[in-house]
Amino acid sequence: MGKIVLAYSGGLDTSILIRWLIEKYDAEVVTVTVNVGQREDLKALEEKALKIGATRHYSIDARREFAEKYLWSAVKANALYQGKYPLSTALARPLIASKLVEVARREGAEALAHGCTGRGNDQIRFDITLKALAPEMKVIAPVREWNLSREEEVAYARDRGIPIPSKDKPYSIDQNLWGRSIECGPLDDPAAEPPEDAFEWTVKPEEAPDQPQYVTIGFEKGIPIALNGREMEAVRLIEELNSLAGSQGVGRIDHVEDRVMGLKSREVYECPAALTLIEAHRDLEKLTLTGRELSFKHLVDLEWAWLAYAGLWVHPLREALEAFIEASQERVTGEVKVKLYKGSLTVVGRKAQKPVHDLTLTTSRLMEALDQALARGFIEHWGLQARACMLEKVEGKPKESLTD
Ligand code: ARG
Repeated sequence: MGKIVLAYSGGLDTSILIRWLIEKYDAEVVTVTVNVGQREDLKALEEKALKIGATRHYSIDARREFAEKYLWSAVKANALYQGKYPLSTALARPLIASKLVEVARREGAEALAHGCTGRGNDQIRFDITLKALAPEMKVIAPVREWNLSREEEVAYARDRGIPIPSKDKPYSIDQNLWGRSIECGPLDDPAAEPPEDAFEWTVKPEEAPDQPQYVTIGFEKGIPIALNGREMEAVRLIEELNSLAGSQGVGRIDHVEDRVMGLKSREVYECPAALTLIEAHRDLEKLTLTGRELSFKHLVDLEWAWLAYAGLWVHPLREALEAFIEASQERVTGEVKVKLYKGSLTVVGRKAQKPVHDLTLTTSRLMEALDQALARGFIEHWGLQARACMLEKVEGKPKESLTD
């Protein structure tokens, strides 16, 4: 084989993969690291990849694209898989895959490779996106086949002079702008509270400041544009909110998740900005969308999150759902005030440029303008079917007696 383009994270698996691909396929390996805000030393990663044997390394800063194209779509869709997980890992995969394909085309490569195992969702997201975007290329996922234990991997690395990252924590971690996913080790026992050393972005809620912190989030057509009254570009807004909310202990998630392939797993996340933005956005929608729009959109949102989770980012249904979501955001402009306090996140105020109607009018002037007595007739009609059925069931009387 000529050239293989490998998604490189700098961890042990993908480091070994560089040598393994060279040896097994007698190929040149080009490595790609996509910066989605994972807070890693990208220069060091590049040096490491080249030292291990990559012919060339690409470091691509995709933070802005990630935030504006993927994360803002997720906010508009209030995307929480199973009501809990903001899809931080899931959303980055199709973007990373698209960058791999770009590099592969430029390099004239024949194959694409990633280091996902055969147990998780990430392999699904990579495989489907890669094959959809580059049907002419081969996709290789050696970790899925080789079944090496960590000890065997370490031995392989030692044998070939590949630097072994010190593993001071027993977790499998993936992080980007939208959050930090923590799996494995002591977290595998769903009955045990996650140890404090699993967390890095959030302070322990009981040790958070004794004073609450308020943040105001400004939205324009569903997109977060300002933090505490200051207009801000997407990446900066998310980063600032991550540290602000994280310092109040906000953002921890602990839940049992259904993976795509039918396995259940205990998952722990830290997603301070994602949770805050989604909660604020959902709240602003309540003021700006009609009741029917809200309940229909809820179904659309659930489906959108499911597609993103299940590796079907490239599915035409996602775009169709987004066309609806986009149309629904026309009036979602305004400001939401959130109170952060010792791990809790509460919306305490909201203001919209175009609310469905002014709520203060409901109790005062609007009620004067509307004849309250009309409500009686409405209720008469509204409850007709239910009352007719009850009459028959409970009283044993024919439905017709309702009109007597
Ligand atoms: N369960 C999450 C998901 O499927 C997180 C995966 C985290 N990946 C990892 N390599 N630690 O999106």
